[in-house]
Amino acid sequence: MGINSLIVYVHILIYGDSILKEWYDKINDALSVETLEEIRICVFGKKGILAAEFAKMKDLSGQEKGKLAKELNTHKAALMNEFTAKKITLQTEALMVAMKAEAIDVSMFSTSSQAGALHPVMETMDRIVEYFSSMNFAVKTGQIVEDDFNNFEALNLPKYHPARDMQDTFYFKDEMMLRTHTSPVQIRTMMASKPPIRMIAPGAVFRRDYDLTHTPMFHQVEGLLVDKEGTVSFANLKFILEDFLKYMFGEVEVRFRPSFFPFTEPSAEVDISCVFCKGEGCRVCSHTGWLEVLGCGIVDPNVFEAVNYKDVSGYAFGLGVERFAMLIHQIGDLRSLFEGDIKLLEQFQ
Ligand code: PHE
Repeated sequence: MGINSLIVYVHILIYGDSILKEWYDKINDALSVETLEEIRICVFGKKGILAAEFAKMKDLSGQEKGKLAKELNTHKAALMNEFTAKKITLQTEALMVAMKAEAIDVSMFSTSSQAGALHPVMETMDRIVEYFSSMNFAVKTGQIVEDDFNNFEALNLPKYHPARDMQDTFYFKDEMMLRTHTSPVQIRTMMASKPPIRMIAPGAVFRRDYDLTHTPMFHQVEGLLVDKEGTVSFANLKFILEDFLKYMFGEVEVRFRPSFFPFTEPSAEVDISCVFCKGEGCRVCSHTGWLEVLGCGIVDPNVFEAVNYKDVSGYAFGLGVERFAMLIHQIGDLRSLFEGDIKLLEQFQ
């Protein structure tokens, strides 16, 4: 019996028995915080025992009223004391049980362990960077929020060019935007240093696109090589890209197709023989036997003019890292690379 109960029994001796008596035992015998809460409502609630007892006062005469009030208030205080003490005891007990159940033995050996892995996009990016680093290309990163000059103007993408359309580019105010390619890094590098230049720009880029083969954010690696006039040729470009593509995809056929980019002239798109059907023709390569993987060309004189470079020649190229990752790992839907699905990612450990 707690000290409170003792006090109560003394009270009951003095003031006579009360229907409240049994509740002291109930409080004391409660086995859980939940039961105790039910008891609290029964005793102290608006429609509880105490309220009912107090209500009886209205039928009594002045003196009796006072006596009952005093008695009830004594019980009320004593019951509350009892209740509070019991609540603390039960809560402490519950906490101990929970702590014991949740305890971790840090000294114990684990029977299973899971190694993390690089995301396939990052792993592919690392391999690309590794190749060009081995060829003495410096790695430059630049900035994600770009201005009109670096993202478009200096790259010979004039005001009327469709790539500048609101449909394709995420704009901020004051002609600022999320970069649509990593080419602005090349402009910034040329503005900040003198030729010769040998660099790649890996990083995230942003376009308003979303379907099986496009996501609003994806990664590019672009490359730029600049040296004295007449020293950089298309043959140099062709050599390094063929070597690079064989490094990435193994023994594939490589072909260059004439194309157009505002910042290169002449320009080409580069295809590899389809890695799925080995050039036989399948759904992925639209039965052509070829997959487009790169854009490239000889740097347009207008670009050199914009950055104030004179008597130089150069080549540039650009590629989408996700596309490379999809072809290397044979992933069908580009969007699955960004869903963070553990089941997919586990396969790349
Ligand atoms: N900047 C081009 C793009 O984002 C890629 C590219 C770079 C093409 C350099 C040719 C030369 O599509």
